[in-house]
Amino acid sequence: MGYNYKELGLSNTKEMFEKANREHYAVPAFNFNNMEQMLAIVEACAEMGSPVILQCSMGALKYMTKEVVPLLAKAAVDRARAMGSDIPVALHLDHGPNLDAVKICIENGFSSVMIDGSHYSFDENIKMTKEVVDYAKQYDVTVEGELGVLAGVEDDVVAEHSIYTNPNEVEEFIKRTGVDSLAIAIGTSHGAHKFKPGTDPKLELNILAEIERRIPGFPIVLHGSSAVPQKYVEEIKKFGGQLKDAIGIPDTELMGAAKSGVAKINVDTDGRLAFTAAVRRVFAETPAEFDPRKYLGVAKEEMKEYYKEKIKNVFGSQNAYKIGK
Ligand code: G3H
Ligand code: 13P
Ligand code: ZN
Repeated sequence: MGYNYKELGLSNTKEMFEKANREHYAVPAFNFNNMEQMLAIVEACAEMGSPVILQCSMGALKYMTKEVVPLLAKAAVDRARAMGSDIPVALHLDHGPNLDAVKICIENGFSSVMIDGSHYSFDENIKMTKEVVDYAKQYDVTVEGELGVLAGVEDDVVAEHSIYTNPNEVEEFIKRTGVDSLAIAIGTSHGAHKFKPGTDPKLELNILAEIERRIPGFPIVLHGSSAVPQKYVEEIKKFGGQLKDAIGIPDTELMGAAKSGVAKINVDTDGRLAFTAAVRRVFAETPAEFDPRKYLGVAKEEMKEYYKEKIKNVFGSQNAYKIGK
């Protein structure tokens, strides 16, 4: 068994990114791990008329299984259409570790993949990325590569410090690999613990500008872009959770990037925080509740509200397509 993404009604990222760069917004790439999160993402994007990338990590694929993920993505498309929206939906592998993983995803309906060779040398990164591009091209699947290293945790890989992308390397990387988009490191980082409270997180926007100067119009991707909303951190702690004090990337820092050559921005952590805060709140306020729909439903609505706000305040991708009701 297996699927071609086109038969699931999915899109690759090519036209999505062309339109995003033309119209100066960024496409949201929201990670999902279950049905509630998929529904929150697609309903938020359909109601805003925003294109969407459903992003699935290797851990998420293992958790949901490769039999279920493509059908959840198809269900997302069907849900958007039932709401009357024509938004394009991509199913994207986040931080693909190697060609074998990419092959499994493409066989199972992914329309886009990332190959993350950022922890290898420049030449090794190019070699493994090019292999993936050559393979994915046969299926019209788009490929994201990465140059530079983000601080934080990705699956099992932990990087203590970020290594900013070197603008001198980007043209050669794109030319030699044939990637469709490029993830760069300019000061964002993965996970909930990005910066200490009281600090003033700043992105290296001068590096972004220099990269854009060298590859005008080429789709750039930002990972690690969660804001770590303090209302969720406080709620989680108030209702018995343990979370270190931390802050994320301010919306204002990302807004400028979304208007420029950045075509895709990744958000995972904030969805987890919204979900966890909502479930803890319901458990604390109604301890007699044991119908999972009562707390998962609240969690879904919380995530949906968050995604809609983020689209409005950061991505600027609202009204790009038909609004769904
Ligand atoms: O960049 C990493 C993503 O946040 C995925 O996290 O591997 O725990 O699903 P995960
Ligand atoms: P956050 O941890 O900031 O949400 O980043 C997610 C990400 O980059 C997924 O690839
Ligand atoms: Zn990432």
